[in-house]
Amino acid sequence: MIAKPPGIEDIFPDRIERWNHVIRTARDVFRLFNIREIIIPVMEFTEVFARGIGDETDIVSKEMFTFEDRGGRSLALRPEGTASVVRAYVENGDYNRLSSCKLFYMGPMFRAERPQKGRLRQFNQFGAEIFGSAHPYADFEAIASMNLIAHKIGLRDYTLLINSIGCPACRPAFIKDLKSYYASKKSQLCSDCSRRLEKNPLRLLDCKVDACGQLKTEAPVIAGYLCDSCAQHHAKLKSLLAEGGISFMEDPLLVRGLDYYTRTTFEFVSGSTGQNAFAAGGRYDTLVEMFGGKPTPAVGFAAGIERILILLETNKINSPALDVYIVHSGDNAFHEARKTAMALRASGISADMEAEAKGFKSQFKKADRENARLVIIIGKDEISQNQYSIKNMITGNQQSVARENLIAYVAQELSALRLK
Ligand code: HAM
Repeated sequence: MIAKPPGIEDIFPDRIERWNHVIRTARDVFRLFNIREIIIPVMEFTEVFARGIGDETDIVSKEMFTFEDRGGRSLALRPEGTASVVRAYVENGDYNRLSSCKLFYMGPMFRAERPQKGRLRQFNQFGAEIFGSAHPYADFEAIASMNLIAHKIGLRDYTLLINSIGCPACRPAFIKDLKSYYASKKSQLCSDCSRRLEKNPLRLLDCKVDACGQLKTEAPVIAGYLCDSCAQHHAKLKSLLAEGGISFMEDPLLVRGLDYYTRTTFEFVSGSTGQNAFAAGGRYDTLVEMFGGKPTPAVGFAAGIERILILLETNKINSPALDVYIVHSGDNAFHEARKTAMALRASGISADMEAEAKGFKSQFKKADRENARLVIIIGKDEISQNQYSIKNMITGNQQSVARENLIAYVAQELSALRLK
């Protein structure tokens, strides 16, 4: 038998339903935000990632799958999508043509990490990148789209962490103080952090080793170093989130493992992914220029599909139920039920019913099995009174609704259930 390489998974049919639910929901939400799809290559010249993510990051220095092509050029399997999207955006000259541009992508990424639960060598992401706006509202849109995806998928038990890591104007003073704080403690640092102290000191705040964690508690905090415009940007983002009803926690240690970030960084975390963050991102205002484009502010995020799947599986969150099951009795009712099912479907509401009705009891059983959220009951009385009964299977409430108001009522009930 030939086994698959470590950290690489086969996805069998039992997981596909939830998998598709995640992808479908992400696509729906991206459409709602006018974020349009880009398909980027699975491999790039290694330089794209070295330049984009940073030579000194773990991803580039330790985790990339690289190889030489027949011409001796170094190629790498993409460890993430942002650098590729920026390369494509610049290469196609979109920064000249489009004042703003919102793109999303989906697909496999590759990192040679130590495999464990929620940490794979081939994993899948969906992500979005918003180009052209320096306003915190763009950060808000990136965060709000991920938040809506999480909510629509059915996730509730998670926390949004945010931070600002400043800009090239204000960060150097922080880095200087950070270095001098750690200089006298070098002997207590793990071997990775001793190296980081010289080459990439911000990463010290990201280290998960216990001994380094102790030292972090007394380290300088970046909030105290932000210049006026970074501080205002951060304050505005917080007020937009509060106004948009998106709760968050500030995490002064959230520096992220990629070098391109400026100002906002954020992560969506939940205990049961195995690895904490199921989505993460931030602003990267200097990256387009680093790739040879004209200065273009940008912000984005990516989510780990396998980590979201673990969350859905551990919390027993199923892919969405059927919206409406129609229970009917009698010839006229069958006719009305057919018309109602088609009208619901035309309004984007999923509906199902039996062709040969076998009594209310067995139809209700079927509705239960199909996990229907609502049941519409159409019998002789309902037809003569022009009033259909609607039972909310989640709350147990039953309501009589005039036929002409049925679709509006159903849509309202469903949207109330989705917001729960
Ligand atoms: P990242 O934090 O490296 O950011 O990855 C984003 C998400 O991908 C993580 O939160 C996690 O859910 C998932 N992920 C990362 N590594 C693994 C792994 N080895 N196994 C399973 N899942 C993993 C980025 O990739 C940035 N490009 C995000 C971004 C977009 N920032 C701005 N725009």
